[in-house]
This record gives sequence, structure tokens and C-alpha cells, in this order.
Amino acid sequence: MNDEILVTCRINGEDVTLQGDPADSTVSALRARGLYGVRETCGLGVCGTCTVLLDGEPVSSCILPLYAMDGRTIRTVEGAASGETLSGLQEQFIESQAFQCSFCTPGFLASAQALLDQTEGELTRQQVEDGLQGHLCRCGSYEAINEAIRICSRNRESTPGGAGCAAS
Ligand code: FES
Repeated sequence: MNDEILVTCRINGEDVTLQGDPADSTVSALRARGLYGVRETCGLGVCGTCTVLLDGEPVSSCILPLYAMDGRTIRTVEGAASGETLSGLQEQFIESQAFQCSFCTPGFLASAQALLDQTEGELTRQQVEDGLQGHLCRCGSYEAINEAIRICSRNRESTPGGAGCAAS
């Protein structure tokens, strides 16, 4: 008996149909499509590395089953850039040297973008820390990550239209 299901969803702006076991993880389904920016580490939903945006909200894709993707919109780090052009937030991570090995970076970027999308004005250090709860960086780049996000929030304050470097 074939227990596989078909799931239709939108990934990085593209409507796709996925096939697999309903209990397959979203991180596996995304990586099978070549989206290698989504990385699995703990497999328990506690380290933040595999975070993607599901309908704009950060979720751990390692514990999100395939069936839960049906009808949803997913954005990975690959979808944050526009072709070869990085998002403002991605550029600021580079500018602030907000990573070392970068293994954790796609997950941090997803939650940071959600934080910027869902807030206004210049963020405090504490607000950024709260928004990034559950993300681990084994290289200890927390200070630079926090700074990059605060710079983005400050820039949107001074940019006409409020987009600043939070624009995605
Ligand atoms: Fe290496 Fe965060 S930059 S784990």
C-alpha cells in the first residue's frame, strides 16, 4: 500500500507539488528540492538552525511534517535574495561580520527578518535577544548578529518609506 501524499504549497514564490510520506520532515523535503540553505542539526526543534518562514512566521522545519506544508507559503534563505542581489538584512550580516562558520546563519536570518517585518522603529538589544530566542550559534557570534539586526531596525527608521535594510 502506498501511503505517500501530495502536498501543494508555495516555496520562495513558486507553486510546487511535493510527494512523500506525510511524516517526512519539511527540512528533508526542502533539501530534496536543492534548497541546501535549510540545515538540520538537532532534529528536535530546539537549536534554530533549520528555521524557515511559514506564512511569515519562523518555524523549525525539522519538526514540521510534510502534511503541514499543504496550502502554506514557505520562504527559505534562498528566497530572501532577489537573484544575485542579497536582501538588505543579508548584506548587513556580511557588513557586521555576523557569522563565522555560517552554519546557523540561514536560521538566524529567517527569524531576524520576521522580527523586522513584525515590528516598527529601532529595536533594543533585549528586543532582538527576545526575537532570536531558541537560536544557537556555536561560534558565539551573538553580539555581531544582534548588532546587524539593530542596525537594520535603525536604518528603516531613517529611510523614506521605512524600509531601510529590513527590505526583503
Ligand atoms: Fe558558526 Fe553560528 S556562525 S554556528
